[in-house]
Amino acid sequence: MCGIIGYVGQQGHREVLLDGLERLEYRGYDSAGVALRDHEAVHLFRVKGRIATLRERMAGANFTARAGIGHTRWATHGAASVRNAHPHRTGNITLVHNGIIENFAELKNEITALGRVVKSDTDSEIVAHLFDIEIQNNKSLEEAVQSVTGRLRGAYAFVLMSDKEPDFLLGVRNGAPLLVGVGEGGNYLASDVQAVLSHTKKIVYLEDKEFVLCGDKQITVKRYDGREIVPVVNTLNWSADEIGRSGYPHYMLKEIHEQPMGLTRTLASNVQKGKKKLTLSGLEATDAKLGTFNKVSIVACGTSWHAALVGKFYIERFAKIPVEVDYASEFRYREPVLDERTLSLFISQSGETADTLAALREAKDRRAYAASLVNVQGSSIARESNSVLLTQAGPEIGVASTKAFTTQLSVLYLLALRLGRARGTLSSSQADTLLAELSELPFQMERVLGLSDNIDKLTHTLLRSKLWLFMGRGIHYPVALEGALKLKEITYLHAEGYPAGEMKHGPIALIDRASTTVVLCAPPEGESLLTQMREKVLSNLMEVKARGGKILAVGSEGDTELQGLSDAFLGVPRCSWGMSPLVLSIPMQLLAYYTAVHLGRDVDKPRNLAKSVTVE
Ligand code: F6R
Repeated sequence: MCGIIGYVGQQGHREVLLDGLERLEYRGYDSAGVALRDHEAVHLFRVKGRIATLRERMAGANFTARAGIGHTRWATHGAASVRNAHPHRTGNITLVHNGIIENFAELKNEITALGRVVKSDTDSEIVAHLFDIEIQNNKSLEEAVQSVTGRLRGAYAFVLMSDKEPDFLLGVRNGAPLLVGVGEGGNYLASDVQAVLSHTKKIVYLEDKEFVLCGDKQITVKRYDGREIVPVVNTLNWSADEIGRSGYPHYMLKEIHEQPMGLTRTLASNVQKGKKKLTLSGLEATDAKLGTFNKVSIVACGTSWHAALVGKFYIERFAKIPVEVDYASEFRYREPVLDERTLSLFISQSGETADTLAALREAKDRRAYAASLVNVQGSSIARESNSVLLTQAGPEIGVASTKAFTTQLSVLYLLALRLGRARGTLSSSQADTLLAELSELPFQMERVLGLSDNIDKLTHTLLRSKLWLFMGRGIHYPVALEGALKLKEITYLHAEGYPAGEMKHGPIALIDRASTTVVLCAPPEGESLLTQMREKVLSNLMEVKARGGKILAVGSEGDTELQGLSDAFLGVPRCSWGMSPLVLSIPMQLLAYYTAVHLGRDVDKPRNLAKSVTVE
């Protein structure tokens, strides 16, 4: 987590850095800082809190700089304070860091034994000292990289300026993201493309154990061992317009409303038209290869993990292959049984989540075929996968994931169809019918978005609930989990998702008058099993009601029976089994959003969270 940026060039450094940090703020917002180098000195600005406070603090900094670096922090070592804010400056070195230096205590002891004074509680300052020691010993930055990185354990990316080589920035990457934005009048270093997209779309992604010396006209990329790399320049297809709020009060609301468009784009880019059989862009494996898999293993974190649970339903139904779903943080430590007949799929919006990346490496070590489903082209997870499936949600900036989730579901659905065709479990006409359902979805989503005003109003009456339970069955159970996660992360209310049938086995003890239970009960068209389940869900609902709990039901439009049994009711259009998780997700997102707004929460930057979790 933490966002880092550097710039060397001719534009106004203060603005480039502050603007970049604002775009990176979703990565952490405990404290922030900027260092600007002019012809005489390095000027340091650091604050506790947000970039807005840093902007105020820098209002008078109107000098012409040669280079600068900036940081927005998600605290790991040391409390959120000015003292622990980056950049850290010692001797000749000014440094910003993202990641964790695991052996920092041992390195700190060594440094203090040399008589150096460590001013902060951070692991990052230690790296600045290590570099300074090398520079004081007349080493060049490049020579220093080799000796310092040899001493560091952990995952990190850092950018630093040395007083001895004032026209260069040094960027070093091992385990945390770092990229170079190649511009016209200068070059940029950043954790994420969003920080540089308004200046350039030409991106060089650094790999682990690589460093870059970045001047305003040239960049030199090398491996730690000194081998020079010819940088691959990628041109991004995201536009700078996509990273604004477009008049919405919050990114989250904008991103919720972008879902029909995200779906349409994802569909258009993944399904190749004009071909007789269903193909899926990015899935490199042939039919013959797909036919060899006897298991699918899906690994992810958070919302992406909920998408994986829905993917299990799709793949098991359409392709008849057993699917395992794991949290990435558990998978890597549980000795998973995988081999070359396993299709491993890693889902990650950012493509940078540390646990998911480590899990991918683990699966490859075990000879599994590693595919990924990411939203960020060129991200670390994408680069290390055998096949890359891309969602086209566009940049997702709100910390709570919304459009990434529904586009992930759409690609998982396509993958299930593709596997079903390759393995002969779906006929061509069955696959066509199922594919057509997806094309209808953006229209259904637009209708559900029309519920916004109703949801806004009804959240007023439910604000006093201290506990929220979300219940659903079958393919709606992961939607219940996602509904609870959305609510808890942005409102800070206690929320849990359960399969409705499990309520009696414990959770029902929580029900009282101060609780609201969200009941997902919208049987998909033509699904006799889930229609039967409707009766069972209604019984579960009655059990909650009998104990004084409030009921918010999300059901099919026109379901007057369900409406009559509930304190509040939201009707969604009837749709197919496969589409129903996508349709039902939208009221969940809007419910969390409006509740958070009415409670006065910081919707796009909820406390303690960061969007891209690049530490274990
Ligand atoms: C929740 C949320 C997180 C992420 C999780 C994984 O709204 O955004 O739970 O889903 O941190 O992130 P990615 O998908 O980037 O790997």
